[in-house]
Amino acid sequence: MALTTALVTGASSGIGYEISKVLAEEGHDLVLVARREERLKQLAQYLEKDFNIQVTVMAADLTRISEIDRIFDTLKEQGIPVDILVNNAGLGSWGPLTADDKNTEIQQIQVNVLATTYMTKKFAVDMVRRGLGKILNIASLSGFTPWPYMAVYGATKAYIIEFSEALRAELKGTGVSVTVSCPGPTASEFHQISGTADVGFLRLMPVLGSAQVARASVAAMHKRKGVVVHGWLNLAYSLLPRIMPRNWLLRVMKLILKPRRR
Ligand SMILES: NC(=O)c1ccc[n+]([C@@H]2O[C@H](COP(=O)([O-])OP(=O)(O)OC[C@H]3O[C@@H](n4cnc5c(N)ncnc54)[C@H](OP(=O)(O)O)[C@@H]3O)[C@@H](O)[C@H]2O)c1
Repeated sequence: MALTTALVTGASSGIGYEISKVLAEEGHDLVLVARREERLKQLAQYLEKDFNIQVTVMAADLTRISEIDRIFDTLKEQGIPVDILVNNAGLGSWGPLTADDKNTEIQQIQVNVLATTYMTKKFAVDMVRRGLGKILNIASLSGFTPWPYMAVYGATKAYIIEFSEALRAELKGTGVSVTVSCPGPTASEFHQISGTADVGFLRLMPVLGSAQVARASVAAMHKRKGVVVHGWLNLAYSLLPRIMPRNWLLRVMKLILKPRRR
């Protein structure tokens, strides 16, 4: 049995799937969380066999806060302490907020913001008590500037960056670190599910693989770094708010993110 257990949300695909593989390679036991249970079970089977670790699958819809209580209580009952928490599950959408009356933006707030915050709160309390723990939150490059037509998604990621940085400062000296990874465009199911595959601006940016982002994010977490941006172009983008007047920035962002008429 491994000395440490890592819980990864959104482990059924993309970056979360790859983070789970990296942590398994390192020898951590795992708790995998997402809605698609079959995918989690397949991943669990493969990781247990290849890396000789224990994997617990917890299918859960993170739009429901009660699911986080269920995960937490179940792990407590089973005597599984979480030493590494990876809040990766997330979703987005592209288009004018007023284009329809669907509730996808509310789901983004529920998963990206509420679930991340509540998961962190629940597990960080225990980590601080034990004087040991690492938290890795997956934000996005979109958290550095306002994103017209992805207004809610960008704002949820801005929240994750600020929340993570503030908590990191708060927890200094407790043995618990908080790292926030801010990927740019990454190959995964995200763009298909969130309808962002046709965002022209994203096509101009370098697209990294999920495995590459996962490896860099986990490495940064182990080094207990704060905010992590992947690649020099993404780094340059993240610095835009510091060098460009806000109204110019908004105009540019609106122009490059505006959906084309069909
Ligand atoms: N891809 C990019 O370009 C990019 C760029 C910057 C940041 N990010 C961020 O990276 C993170 C991972 O995204 P990805 O690119 O790997 O996308 P992805 O392949 O679509 O993976 C998203 C993961 O989130 C889980 N998830 C979504 N809604 C959920 C819910 N209600 N309850 C539980 N789990 C839920 C999905 O699992 P189920 O569907 O099985 O529930 C899936 O495992 C997200 O936070 C995203 O915002 C992505």
